[in-house]
Amino acid sequence: MILRLLALLAALLFASPAFAQAPAPPPGPVATIASPGNILSVELHLDPDGRPAYSVRRFGTEILSPSRLGFLLLNAPKLERGFQLASQATSTFDQTWEQPWGERRFVRNHYHELRARFTERAGLQRSFDVTFRVYDDGIGFRYEFPDQPNLRNVEITEELTEFALTQPATAWWIPAFEWNREEYLYNRTNLREVGTAQTPMTIRTEGGLHIAFHEAALIDYSGMNLTNMGNGRFRAALTPGTDGAKVRRAAPFPTPWRTLQISDNAAGLAMSNLILNLNEPNRLGDVSWVRPMKYVGVWWEMHLDRKTWASGPRHGATTENVRRHIDFAARHGFGGVLVEGWNVGWDGEWFGNGQDFSFTQPYPDFDLEGLARYGRSRGVQLIGHHETSGNAAHYESQMEDAFALYQRLGVGAVKTGYVADAGQNKVRAGDGSLLYVWHEGQAMNQHHMRVIEAAARHRISINAHEPTKDTGLRRTYPNMIAREGARGMEYSAWGNPGNPPEHEPNLVFTRMLAGPMDYTPGIFGMQTCAPGGVQTTWAKQLALYVVIYSPIQMAADLLVNYEANPRPFQFIVDVPVDWQESLVLNGEIGDYVTIARKDRASENWYIGSVTDEEGRLLQAPLSFLTPGRRYRAQIYRDGPTANYRGRPEDIVIEERIVTSRDTLTLRLAPGGGQAIRLVAMR
Ligand code: NOJ
Ligand code: CA
Repeated sequence: MILRLLALLAALLFASPAFAQAPAPPPGPVATIASPGNILSVELHLDPDGRPAYSVRRFGTEILSPSRLGFLLLNAPKLERGFQLASQATSTFDQTWEQPWGERRFVRNHYHELRARFTERAGLQRSFDVTFRVYDDGIGFRYEFPDQPNLRNVEITEELTEFALTQPATAWWIPAFEWNREEYLYNRTNLREVGTAQTPMTIRTEGGLHIAFHEAALIDYSGMNLTNMGNGRFRAALTPGTDGAKVRRAAPFPTPWRTLQISDNAAGLAMSNLILNLNEPNRLGDVSWVRPMKYVGVWWEMHLDRKTWASGPRHGATTENVRRHIDFAARHGFGGVLVEGWNVGWDGEWFGNGQDFSFTQPYPDFDLEGLARYGRSRGVQLIGHHETSGNAAHYESQMEDAFALYQRLGVGAVKTGYVADAGQNKVRAGDGSLLYVWHEGQAMNQHHMRVIEAAARHRISINAHEPTKDTGLRRTYPNMIAREGARGMEYSAWGNPGNPPEHEPNLVFTRMLAGPMDYTPGIFGMQTCAPGGVQTTWAKQLALYVVIYSPIQMAADLLVNYEANPRPFQFIVDVPVDWQESLVLNGEIGDYVTIARKDRASENWYIGSVTDEEGRLLQAPLSFLTPGRRYRAQIYRDGPTANYRGRPEDIVIEERIVTSRDTLTLRLAPGGGQAIRLVAMR
């Protein structure tokens, strides 16, 4: 009894001071907005200390509890508390726009918008605006720094934006700030175990809700990562800059959009157009010169260490080898031939270095002019290659000449590369010295914008490897045709480990939410330098052309492997790269996914289905086909003994007639897949 009394006394003594200091419960929201279908809603709050926050509900249930908004600054006091709501306005938007190329031709942009201005109640009386666009399938919000006397030069050391999740969840994520940029295998962990993650980060709550966190329109700002603050609360962690400030801008300016794609199922995430919709419309005008295409290249043979980028006896980019690739591309209707190692600069320590590269001078055994001419005569473009090794400063000093040369030669697309460890890109400071910077910091985002604008002036599209993250800027700059930004097929050539079978079903619901990826599928030669080789079946390699969206797709394998296997190769010849519509028929993150796409240039449909290391039976209802029409289904499926470990090459190719009333049962082997071409019959 005495003990219990003592415990009670102690509890009162220790609890009461905290109780006395606790702020009054937050008042109700100061502003609200709901999505067009009243599925999602956002509320804005101010706590008694004037701290702005937002919360998100779905069908009335809170999925983000009040999550803070604000900034730490280098040159001025923080923007964090002491605010009042100075104004608010709402509006509605509903427009359908057309993509010049893409996974679907028409995109509906339908949202309700809330724009709020927070102003400091006293002191400097500085303001920032927050704009929320609320869709039925997600939310985007961004800050705007208005023109104001007491905040002209904004030097941001950290964004205080939070995402306070209310439910336990499983997360799929890759770490931020590690040496290898964004080329990591995805972690699948309890949300509690996330450290600092790159975006997109995708979660599935205990209640089954799928949420992907990312950003849109990352322009002249630094990339956002997410730090786990505990108890489901995540906070923006901006990529560092060249000194204490992570972002330096003059007001007025907007930040990128912070995005949440929200869906009952994984398929819904992959169907969302949120990121594209939050970007500005095409700024380049006529972009008919941006050409989606398939390509082959002098490439995989280097990754298999049979040829070299460097000059010498094993040099890959010889006139004779490239000519062979042009002939092959012409024979099979491919638009381009990528040539790596064509230019002077590969002979020394090029990795993370870059100052020896010339972007205009070919090696003597590579006849650039003659090959470009020969390609043109056969309807095949050379695809240019600019490996910068992260030396953006050096590249910029030659970029204009390099693009002018390529334009003169009819080269319409360039693959750039930034092979350097994280934090090891080089940019030029105001005083001419070199500064080492991160791939996704503000300086590199400025660089990528200069590249894309210079390339556009020369009617060239850019496919950046080791890029900054994709945030949907292809809508504004349609010559941003694709990029890497994750572990590509190359890891199955030399990685240790290579890409495991779950990698692609992970990518579809994480990295691919950001935009197209130059994944380079199409491998039939499964023995590589990676232990375990390529960990898929052949049928899965074919399915990847449909599953991993890119308007440029490589047929990445050695030509001999295609020449020896013309029947499965036929799917790679037939599959288009530009789509009228895309539908995700089913999928679970990291497990499996089935996608159907309609060709933009015909009435034909294509289906790709891939699985992880588990074999599966999946149903694919064909209700998307035109009713009453018959289709010849050309099926490329895993054979009875197929297995990524045992007989990856066991593939059955067969035909049957189907209609919209049919449902196909897809049998996927472990590590397998299925690719189907549905040819509309007259
Ligand atoms: C890394 C790229 O991802 C790869 O495709 C390229 O071959 C090498 N860098 C060399 O530029
Ligand atoms: Ca790479």
